[in-house]
Amino acid sequence: MNPIYEHNRRAWDERARRGERHTRQVLAKDLKNPLPILDPENWLGGNLAGKRVLCLASGGGLQSALCAAAGAIVTVVDISPEMLTQDRQSAAEHGLKIKIIEASMDDLLALSEAGFDIVIQPVSTCYVPDIAAVYRQVARVLAPGGLYLSQHKQPVNLQADVAPTSSGYVVREPYYRTGPLPAVAAGSLHREADTTEFLHRWEELIGGLCRAGFVVEDLVEPRQAGVVVQPGSFEHRSLFMPPYVKIKARRVGKPSDEPKPAALWTPS
Ligand SMILES: C[S@@+](CC[C@H](N)C(=O)[O-])C[C@H]1O[C@@H](n2cnc3c(N)ncnc32)[C@H](O)[C@@H]1O
Repeated sequence: MNPIYEHNRRAWDERARRGERHTRQVLAKDLKNPLPILDPENWLGGNLAGKRVLCLASGGGLQSALCAAAGAIVTVVDISPEMLTQDRQSAAEHGLKIKIIEASMDDLLALSEAGFDIVIQPVSTCYVPDIAAVYRQVARVLAPGGLYLSQHKQPVNLQADVAPTSSGYVVREPYYRTGPLPAVAAGSLHREADTTEFLHRWEELIGGLCRAGFVVEDLVEPRQAGVVVQPGSFEHRSLFMPPYVKIKARRVGKPSDEPKPAALWTPS
């Protein structure tokens, strides 16, 4: 496995062991009414019964369990064995059926073409250098007309310092950059200090979807900003830069032959 993916896999294994942010498993009370937790925007239309759902880079035992409780036929893919162990635990504890596959989000050859009606991907594309490769894989496994709900880190969230100076949060990293981002100090809630992350520009996040054969039907910036907040806190930094973007896209056609954005960094 490429060393960066190996590093991120180990980092997420450790994060799961330590029970850190974004590793929480489903709670029994969540399963009584799973859809508003899974899909607060109601992009799924309130009904997952019988739908073939892929929870992509979604280990941890939260989204997969919510989908299964809502009646979906669920597969979860993740690179971290420990995160997937939690899906196994959630399934066993709550009597749910979840198919578990260890794989990288940009290599879904273990999954059949057009085998899913819906793909749900929480924040995770920041862990791979080439988001277009992920989109191509999602387009391949989604049936025509299928929905792809994904969440990503906004570029500026990855460009700016995690802590403020007296004049605000310095946007330090160039927008037009390649390669892994410099590591950040531990303690940030916007960045996972122990992982290696990559910035994807808007033309890659949104334009890349269109070039992969999707149409964008909606886009939201989940509000994380606080009203009265401590400088340096998650809510304070979020006042200046929304950390995430959520995109609703539908697979409509074949990936286009349009020219692609400039070549990305690839690990040696
Ligand atoms: C922010 S967590 C998302 C999952 C979590 N259930 C949540 O609620 O947010 C990011 C996930 O991406 C996974 N991941 C990192 N790199 C990956 C890759 N190349 N392929 C698949 N999964 C990957 C991590 O193991 C982790 O489970």
